Amino acid sequence: MSMDKVDIFDTTLRDGEQVPGCKLDSKQKLVIAERLDQLGVDIIEAGFPISSPGDFKSVNEIAKIVKEATVCGLTRSVRKDIEVAAEALKYAKKPRIHTGIGTSESHIKYKFNSTPDKILERAIDAVKYAKTFVEDVEFYAEDAGRTDNEYLARVCEAVIKAGATVLNIPDTTGYCLPEEYGAKMKYLKENVKGIEKAKLSCHCHNDLGLATANSISGVINGARQIECTINGIGERAGNTSLEEVVMILRQHPDLNLDTDINSKLLYSTSQMVSHKMGMVVQPNKAIVGSNAFAHSSGIHQDGVIKKRETYEIIDPEDVGVNESSIVLTARSGRAALAYRAKKVGYELTKVQLDSVYTEFLKFADQKKEIVDTDIHQIIEASPINIESIA
Ligand code: KIV
Ligand code: ZN
Repeated sequence: MSMDKVDIFDTTLRDGEQVPGCKLDSKQKLVIAERLDQLGVDIIEAGFPISSPGDFKSVNEIAKIVKEATVCGLTRSVRKDIEVAAEALKYAKKPRIHTGIGTSESHIKYKFNSTPDKILERAIDAVKYAKTFVEDVEFYAEDAGRTDNEYLARVCEAVIKAGATVLNIPDTTGYCLPEEYGAKMKYLKENVKGIEKAKLSCHCHNDLGLATANSISGVINGARQIECTINGIGERAGNTSLEEVVMILRQHPDLNLDTDINSKLLYSTSQMVSHKMGMVVQPNKAIVGSNAFAHSSGIHQDGVIKKRETYEIIDPEDVGVNESSIVLTARSGRAALAYRAKKVGYELTKVQLDSVYTEFLKFADQKKEIVDTDIHQIIEASPINIESIA
């Protein structure tokens, strides 16, 4: 059975770049945009053109160089924003304007001092106006996660009528539970007239650590686009992590959903974004963290050396990591020591291994991790003669 495609909307350069202290210059943004295009993302949200001349320039230049992906610019439901975004995107092969407004009670009351009906009018006007510049218009209902479903459905129906091609349902504050977010998508699928003319999109924030789970729940319930960032960077606790949703769908073919991402580029893209933004990837980060394919306890190491799948569900090469690593610590066993010794040039017999292992444990108790030079030192200091096979 053929897989249903889920579009990947990358917002590393817009929502991701809102991380304090991680500002990128135009040149860095261009390099990242080119890489995202090679990675196979469907849409690159390049920035918020009206926010600053620098952002306008970046969106404008990215629009010129991106070959495959749609290039998107963010706006508020404000005509001037939409005009500026259209101008910034004018060279894009496939331009998209992303416009929208807050729809939750607190946004309507406190942010806009307005009423649901007036907000609805602004939404319709923004989409109609954006449509005069580009065919592809995405509408976001900011704080949809905390918006009453009935009102949200009314807004969605109205903006589809006005021409919206994609409906973004952001859980702006990262509040929803996966069941709740999935149920919201299902409700919209079942209650919005004309929904077949538009694609539902997940945009989840990670304040409760649920951004990835919520996005997956969204696509299981009918959404066909996920908005995400490399390494999950973004405001506060971040956005949905691109590498996580892509690999979840790959690891679960039973869901019958897939993306066009070239997963072999995930690790190098993660490293590139991390270096350019000066933002370290936490070692235990799923898929791309330095420990994601590292094994340090003796029981796990023995299992992985015998058969990798015993403790790994992803082949590291599938995400561009050369191989699983066997980290030598005081909790490592003989199998791990023999494996690493062989890698640096020693094929140890059982007697040799027993002798070296005793020395290894003494050494390892004093050091957090035993590296290749330590292995040479331990073996060379061994009372029994051990020849290198190299
Ligand atoms: O989180 C959010 O609501 C957003 C919108 C502006 C799309 O980033
Ligand atoms: Zn966001």
